[in-house]
Amino acid sequence: TRSGSGGLRTPIVAVLGHVDHGKTSLLDKIRGSAVTQGESGAITQHIGATAVPLDVISDIAGGLVDPDDFDLPGLLFIDTPGHHSFSTLRSRGGALADIAILVVDVNDGFQPQTIEALDILKRTQTPFVVAANKIDTVPGWNTQEDGPIQASLDAQSDRTRERLDERIYSLIGELSDNDISSDMYWQVRDFQHNAGLVPLSALTGEGIPDLLTVLMGLSQRYMKEEMEIDTTGPGSGTVLEVTEERGFGTTLDVVLYDGTIRTDDTIVVGATNRTIETDVRALLQPRALSEIRTEKQFERTDEVSAAAGVKIAAPDLDDAIAGAPVRVVRDQTLDAVTDDVEAEL
Ligand code: GTP
Ligand code: MG
Repeated sequence: TRSGSGGLRTPIVAVLGHVDHGKTSLLDKIRGSAVTQGESGAITQHIGATAVPLDVISDIAGGLVDPDDFDLPGLLFIDTPGHHSFSTLRSRGGALADIAILVVDVNDGFQPQTIEALDILKRTQTPFVVAANKIDTVPGWNTQEDGPIQASLDAQSDRTRERLDERIYSLIGELSDNDISSDMYWQVRDFQHNAGLVPLSALTGEGIPDLLTVLMGLSQRYMKEEMEIDTTGPGSGTVLEVTEERGFGTTLDVVLYDGTIRTDDTIVVGATNRTIETDVRALLQPRALSEIRTEKQFERTDEVSAAAGVKIAAPDLDDAIAGAPVRVVRDQTLDAVTDDVEAEL
């Protein structure tokens, strides 16, 4: 969230998976907007960040998430493209994430970019939940719009239920072939060693209350210590994209994962074979529940605290590169911060 005064930051959730398996639709459903329709072609070419505050999560999850049980401020979702040519974007999103959703189409099962995404999660040791998506396409499916998965399962005929189970079991088999032990999420006791599977539909919304509940539960249980940050300390982030913005010149789309960035800050940014030292000219944010890449009118803000997506306008950003670190210079000397950025390039 953009305030972040409480000392616990929002966990960053990457949504990963094969092309067309439903990553953007899932976020669309969650935020209730229509990014999918607005996309040119079927390919998502950019990473966007979506902050969903706890009270909204609780609303969507119905009775499953009681806001009083949680002290994390919500979840920050990062969409990633599934097309094979965007492996660096996927890997950037995966590396940034505290936790992830691996989206798999139940009809299609494991595909090349599913395996690639899984490898990123294993390499970065990112805990994840498997979203077994598109359950509404199982022949005979009786949709229970936006409901918890148990209500949907109860509403199916035996035959339809068997068809779904076959698909889920073959997914569990494919995960096992890739050295991941998994089970239906309600059977999993130790989420650090077993991946929980959530059957859902990004189209009808059924199962999404469960997904959000599992994500909140996992974050609260295993991430809380990592989420305890000095929210007012110097900001750290990763550049997702370098874009031209009318009236602002070259800007950086950044996901801030630590501290605060302010309009009067000096920052150090990674570039090809060098670092850029520059002064922030403007911090631009989309409205809550919208995405940087779909937002035409940005809102200027004086200060942003982790975790958040923010567009930074500053002079001399032309050589900045996606994937590079961004650091605010405060408390430490410029030389020390520059060394840090160089070490990460
Ligand atoms: P890339 O960004 O290209 O990797 O794809 P994506 O994973 O974001 O997939 P996207 O959300 O764009 O969905 C691809 C297609 O699947 C669209 O036509 C969606 O309407 C459809 N789709 C996604 N989720 C569901 C679902 O749960 N049920 C059904 N029936 N269709 C779905
Ligand atoms: Mg997409």
